[in-house]
Amino acid sequence: MLIAHITDLHLRQEGELAFMEKIDTAERLARTVDFLNEFRPRPDLVLATGDLVDFGKVEEYRNLRRVLDRLAIPVYLIPGNHDHRDNLRAVYADHTYLPKSGFLHYVIEGHPVRLIGLDTLDPGKVTGLMCPERLAWLDARLGEAKDKPTLVFMHHPPYSVGIAQMDSYGCIGGEAMGSVVGKHPQVERVVCGHLHRATTRRWNGTVVSSTPATAPEILLNIHNGGIWGWGETPPFVGFYLWQDGGIVSHLTQVDPRVSPHAFPPKKA
Ligand SMILES: [Fe+2]
Ligand SMILES: [Fe+2]
Repeated sequence: MLIAHITDLHLRQEGELAFMEKIDTAERLARTVDFLNEFRPRPDLVLATGDLVDFGKVEEYRNLRRVLDRLAIPVYLIPGNHDHRDNLRAVYADHTYLPKSGFLHYVIEGHPVRLIGLDTLDPGKVTGLMCPERLAWLDARLGEAKDKPTLVFMHHPPYSVGIAQMDSYGCIGGEAMGSVVGKHPQVERVVCGHLHRATTRRWNGTVVSSTPATAPEILLNIHNGGIWGWGETPPFVGFYLWQDGGIVSHLTQVDPRVSPHAFPPKKA
């Protein structure tokens, strides 16, 4: 099984630039869609982990559809802090895995790896939230299939990363979520977005990681040692390959400047 992961798309309405009105996030997503459509082997599905649009507006979700509907692989959406639950639901009414009310949580069954999407959105806040209701939902879902390898995907990382500003915009209740996950050793991986950067750590008996955005990156600024800002890196895609009883992850950039050079055939 091959899972592709895109995150932090930050689309605006058609024709509008994002990131201080400098970046065409729709064009970056379009490039990413082309890359995924051409990628072999073809991923079984794509996870899109929030900040799908910039202001949660219906017109922005329509623009998202205009670009993302060209993806020839099933895509599963969860919200981030820039999203709006009901506007997302309204524009994606045909995405029947999305619950009709309440949190946008769901489980994807029928694959070698069970996938659980978590909604960390706390409306009006940049921080995420795993409240008691969401923790109980996660605990119950994990309790249903204790022997099935599971990947949890969410927007806000439930761990701190040493970038002070991003840590202040972290996931409230992340530690409590760790206690829930720690009871369920079948959780192979928790994957997140929000940081616009790649991070990994060991966490409560599993591995947690974040994938860089299709939008620009947040600059690496550990303990305020650098610039708090962003840089125009290429869009990134994460891949999770279920192989030999484990999930191995890959990150790759979507950059036409990286031209492929095949190694010559091995000499006999
Ligand atoms: Fe973001
Ligand atoms: Fe975010």
